Order: sequence, then structure tokens, then C-alpha cells
Amino acid sequence: MRSIAIVNQKGGCGKTTTAVNLAGSLALDGAQVLVVDIDPQAHATLALGIDPEVTEANLYEVLADEEGSALVNEILVEVAPGIHLAPSGIVLSALEQKLAAERAEARTERLAAALARLVRPYDYCLIDCPPNVGLLTFNALRAAGEVIVPLETSYFAIHGVQKLLETIALLSERLGHELEVRILPTLYDGRTRYARETLGEIRELFRDMCFDTVIRQNVKLREAARRGVPVGRYAPSANGAHDYAALSLEIAAVAPAADEALDSAARRVEVRFHDPAASDVRIAGDFNGWIPDKGVETRVESAGSDRVWTKVLSLAPGTYHYRYVVDGHWREDPDNPRSEAGPVGERNSVLVVR
Ligand SMILES: Nc1ncnc2c1ncn2[C@@H]1O[C@H](COP(=O)(O)OP(=O)(O)OP(=O)(O)O)[C@@H](O)[C@H]1O
Ligand SMILES: [Mg+2]
Repeated sequence: MRSIAIVNQKGGCGKTTTAVNLAGSLALDGAQVLVVDIDPQAHATLALGIDPEVTEANLYEVLADEEGSALVNEILVEVAPGIHLAPSGIVLSALEQKLAAERAEARTERLAAALARLVRPYDYCLIDCPPNVGLLTFNALRAAGEVIVPLETSYFAIHGVQKLLETIALLSERLGHELEVRILPTLYDGRTRYARETLGEIRELFRDMCFDTVIRQNVKLREAARRGVPVGRYAPSANGAHDYAALSLEIAAVAPAADEALDSAARRVEVRFHDPAASDVRIAGDFNGWIPDKGVETRVESAGSDRVWTKVLSLAPGTYHYRYVVDGHWREDPDNPRSEAGPVGERNSVLVVR
């Protein structure tokens, strides 16, 4: 899973719009996406159609103390095909103070600990941060491998962002893990010379750090947020939908292959299958002579109404083909986009171990 924090201490630069609509376009491309709304304003929650006032549970329960991380699977809401949401609520504003009173490292590790307990497999986790660099944003950066900094295409915004990049660099040094940071120009109005020039300056200044994609101003993005759906579903032909589709392609292009995400540790590979209705799930492939579950360790966990089978395989580097046997029926892995036709025309899922 690629975890991407969407960060900028400047308000209104398009963090939430990016979290929600990037999730939308990645999901339309077939990815499984988790949106984590760690902003007490709960705008991403609202923009994905969930009223934070009526949700039974939110991230507060998960992050407030160390035991909470196990609850992460319980609070997730499926908001659209391929998109789950870890909702926020106003109560998160109390969390910053609560965490401030706690031990230094533990208080920034809560979200990372919770994400490590996710039962469902996701391709992406997008974390929508509040407009400040406090403990909630630290938690997001600690849990992330990548950062997107949406940057409004305006002169003053450029100045603020340099400070932010320094802060992120310092923090990643302190946290001891690399963060891949990229700048996303947003709210671009190509009709004005001012915006065109500013975009030129941004590109000059940030060069490779800058996405090629630019998010143009587009009223459909506002309308979609009010309707509680990503723009790709609300107005698929709008500029906003095109821009976020381009962004998702750019992001997926640098993606580690899907099979790498399945590979948890060297030669110990975990694959997961979830289906609330299934009662027996086995795996068979060229690694075990196509004998279901031969030499395979299985864990079964429940997450709400869902059930997840984790199959632990011990594999040397190489390319493998496999299928699940679900209550006696053979089928390919629905969460693995890579498959190949087998000798009798059936489709086998493909797993590459590096
Ligand atoms: N490309 C765009 N075109 C038109 N409107 C946009 C665009 N991007 C964002 N907006 C609108 O601008 C406002 C601020 O955007 P958004 O909420 O995404 O910013 P934010 O950085 O998350 O703000 P905050 O810091 O308060 O969390 C919203 O009303 C949103 O709908
Ligand atoms: Mg926001």
C-alpha cells in the first residue's frame, strides 16, 4: 500500500479536493483506496457524502490511545466503489491537545500503528491533513511514504511552501524515514497572465519535484464536494475530472508494481482475499503444485461484516500463477490486476516475488 499524506499549512489550497478526487480517479482506474480524514474540519468526510455528526465512530477512537489502533477496521465506511473512508469529526480537535501531553514518539505513531492493522488490502491510502503542521499532521507524515503538497498557483503561496518543505525535511530526518515530496499546482486559472507566469516560476523553482499535472480552477469540483461525490462520478467530462485523472495516471506511473505491494517481507508473501459470504477459501498455484492450501499458512479475520483470509506463502524470487478456491469454486484474485490466460483458457492471477 502506498500511503500519501496531503499536506500544506496554508488553508484552502486544495488538500481536501485533492484527497477526495484523486481517490475518485484512482478508484475509477480499478484501485482500492482508503481516504483517511485526519482534519477536525471533516471536509473530506463531508465531500465523500458522510455527515460527521451522525457517524457512530471516527478516527478519534482509533488515535486517542494506544489500544485504539485495533479499532481502525471498525470505523471504515465504504463511500463509493473502491473507496473506503476513515471519517473525522469535530472531536479530533481535542486530540491534538490530548496527544501533546503524551510521550514524544508514541504520540506521532498512532496513525502508523492503526494503518498497520488494516485487514483489507488497499493500493493507496490518502491522508487529508488539517491546515497546520501539528501533531495530527505529524501522525500523517509518520504514516506516509509520500507527500503531496497542493500549491495554489499564486506568488504568496510559493513563499509559504518553501518553509513547509524545510519543516517536512527536518521532520523526516527526525522520524528517520524518507518522504518523497511532490508539489501539485492547484487552482490554476490559465486565462490570466499572472497565473501562467506564476506556474512558470513554480516549475522553475521546484523542477522535478513538481507534478506535470496542473489542477485548473473548475466549479464542478466545488459542486461535486457539495454533492458528496468525487468529480469523476459527478461530472466525468469536466476539467476537474480530467485533471485528477491525469494526476492519478502520473502517480500510478511511479507506482511499485502491484505485486510488490503483496510482498510483505523477503520471501514471505501474504495475499488476502475478502468475501463476507465465503466460508472456505484456499489458494492453489504453481508454487504448491495446484493443490489447494498445500504448504500455505492461513489466517482468518473479521472486519465488521467482512471476512478476510490471509494466505502466507513462502516463495523464492520468481513469477508465480495462482487461483483461489472459494467454497469449491476456482476463481482469480479480484484484488490483483495482473492475470494471464492459463493453458485451458482460465485466467490465473500473477504474483512476482523480487
Ligand atoms: N481546482 C479547483 N477549482 C475550483 N474550486 C476549488 C478547486 N480546488 C479547491 N476548490 C475549492 O476551494 C475551497 C478550498 O479547497 P479545499 O477544501 O480542497 O482546500 P484545503 O486545502 O483542504 O482547505 P483546508 O486547509 O481548510 O483544509 C473549497 O471550496 C473547494 O471546493
Ligand atoms: Mg481540507
